[in-house]
Order: sequence, then structure tokens, then C-alpha cells
Amino acid sequence: MTSAKKRIGPRFGIWAVVYGTSASLNHPEDPPDASWTRNRNLVLEAESLGIDSVLVAQHIVNPFGDEFDQLETLTSCAALAERTEKIEIIAAIKPYLFHPAVFAKMALQIEEISQGRFSLNFVNAWYLPEFRKAGIPFPPHDERYVYGGEWLRVVRKLIAGERVTVDGDNFKLDGYRFKPTSKWRERPLIYAGGESEAALKLSVELCDTWFMFGQPLEDIARKISAMRKRPRKGAPLTYGVSAFPFARPSQPEAEEALAYAFELREKDKKVYDALHRNADPEVVTSKVISKVPGVGVGNGTGCGFTGSYDEVAQRIVNFYNAGIEIILLEFQPFEREMRRFAEEVMPRVARLCSLK
Ligand SMILES: Cc1cc2nc3c(=O)[nH]c(=O)nc-3n(C[C@H](O)[C@H](O)[C@H](O)COP(=O)(O)O)c2cc1C
Repeated sequence: MTSAKKRIGPRFGIWAVVYGTSASLNHPEDPPDASWTRNRNLVLEAESLGIDSVLVAQHIVNPFGDEFDQLETLTSCAALAERTEKIEIIAAIKPYLFHPAVFAKMALQIEEISQGRFSLNFVNAWYLPEFRKAGIPFPPHDERYVYGGEWLRVVRKLIAGERVTVDGDNFKLDGYRFKPTSKWRERPLIYAGGESEAALKLSVELCDTWFMFGQPLEDIARKISAMRKRPRKGAPLTYGVSAFPFARPSQPEAEEALAYAFELREKDKKVYDALHRNADPEVVTSKVISKVPGVGVGNGTGCGFTGSYDEVAQRIVNFYNAGIEIILLEFQPFEREMRRFAEEVMPRVARLCSLK
């Protein structure tokens, strides 16, 4: 299988602003804007800045509250696939929202539109109202993963062009197969997020890359080394993390920017409290990040990428050396800080990696 392009150093991705913001809802220069136009322009600029991937998270209702706009994932990915040329387009996908055959067909179509740049990020849901208010099933945590595992096994085979016959508890397929499949590789790549034992097992069994929310280097290194010990067929699993860098000319300026982000976060307290009340309490990822509460939809400040340009670049390299292959970036204001990161930090990371 052709995997992502080889290069020295980590790949960088961005979180599309599907909720309209990556951090505070109250930033004076960055009010929530989840519009297609904003997201399209953001991704086009990211591509021109040399960002490798965009993750389009999936929620059909904004978890900050249904008074906020929310970008739809798969239709946006299809449109991005047509508008862009190089950037990898990663769509998050929650099994209960689509029959696996319907989703696999859409995945193969976006793979064709993008000419081999579509990937999926398997996520097994945590936000209850999105499901319950629509009458979509939301069984207990481990049952969701049993369903999700059966779902992902079907999807993985179908997107590889296999003829699938399955007589499972949830899905029954009888000699089902899709054409066309990818002309560019064996199949679209499969990422997964989630830290429960069920998520780890599925990631090792069925995925190419395991994503984590932002957390300190020691935790990331320990988790990667434990994952590497698990038996697995095929190419080694690769690893990714979500990060919210505060890179500035000097360390005090970066600290000041981070403090401001936490101050703004306080203004969102009511909204976040409601979000937590509406989350499945069994979700392990939430328990992990509650130990190092941070800013960002992926708890990105947990990685500690706050400092001067040189310091942040070195810390990123430390994560890379621990096994992180892709870093999913969040910023606020997104466009301005993404530009700064691409201009100041990415070249430093490339330089440090080329010195090794
Ligand atoms: C990089 C990353 C992206 C994620 N994107 C989404 C998403 O788009 N939608 C969603 O509902 N959950 C998303 N999640 C959340 C988890 O997948 C969620 O916590 C999941 O249900 C895992 O539960 P677990 O930790 O108990 O295994 C994401 C997680 C990670 C690490």
C-alpha cells in the first residue's frame, strides 16, 4: 500500500474549523465561523503553506450547542477534494451515522475526486444529544465499540475493493463489491482516535494511524511504546497527536498568549460545562485529558508547545523522536497563527530534522 509521502520530520495537519473555532467562542478577532467559505479558504491557504493534511471532524450537531453553526463533514470533504491538489483530506466518521457500505462507497468516490488523498478517522462518539435527539442508537461504550469493530471490518474490505460476504450481528453482506476502487493505492488510509482498551485493540487490528489528544511527551512516549508491543499484522501502526502551539519570538510572549487563551476559555465555561454534562462518562479520552485540562478542541495545549520559535520546534522534534508521525494543529485566530507557524516553526523543524 502506498502510504503518506515520505519526508524527514513529522507531517503537519490542521483541524478544519467545523465548529467555527478551535478554541474560545469569545475571541475578539476570531468569532465562531463554521461556514464552508471560511473552511475552504483556510484549507486552500494551508495547502499553499505546505501543510500536509486536514482533519474534518464529524458532528452533525455542534457540541457547543445547537445555536452554533456546524460544518457537515463528508460533503465538505468531497468539495475540498475537488478544490485542492496536494493536501490529504481526513474525514472523521462515526459508525452509527452511516451503514458501512454506504459510507465505503462515499469514501471511494472522494478518493477518486481527490485522486488518492482521502482518509478516514474512525471515532466512536461521545456526544449524546447528537444521537439521542434524532433517535439514533447510542448504546453503552463497549457495545458501541463491538458495533464499530464490525462496521470498520466491513468498510476496510470494501474500500480495498474486496468482495464482501459477512453474516454479522449488525451487518449482513452477500458478495458485495464496489467499482471503481482507488487507482492510486490499495485503499484510503484509516486513522482512529480513542484511548479505551476497545479503541486500542481496533486501532492495532484495523488502522494505519492512531491519533491522541494533546498530552505531555512522557505520556505520549509511554503509550506509543506500549502500542508497539502489541502483536499486529502488516505495516507498523503510526502515531499522531493534536497540538495547539503558542509559538512567539520569545518565551514570555508565548506564555502571555497562552495565559490569554486560558482567560478566554473561562468566558466559555458555561458552554463547556454543558458539553461535559452531555458527554458519555465512559469515554476514556475525556478522562485522559481531564488530567491536563487545556485549550483547543483536541486539548492541544497538553503537548506544551508554548515558547519561542526555536523552543517549540525542538519540542516538536522531541515528539517526532518519540514516534509521532503527524501533528494536528489548532490555532486561534486560526489563519494568522497558522501562517506564523508555517513561516517560523515549520522551517526550524525541517532544519532540526535534517541535522540528525
Ligand atoms: C484526533 C482525534 C479526533 C477526533 N475527532 C472526533 C470527531 O470528529 N467526532 C467525535 O465525535 N469524536 C472525535 N474524537 C473523539 C474520540 O474519538 C472519542 O473520544 C471516542 O469516542 C473515543 O472514546 P474512548 O476514548 O473511550 O475510546 C476524536 C479524537 C481524536 C484523538
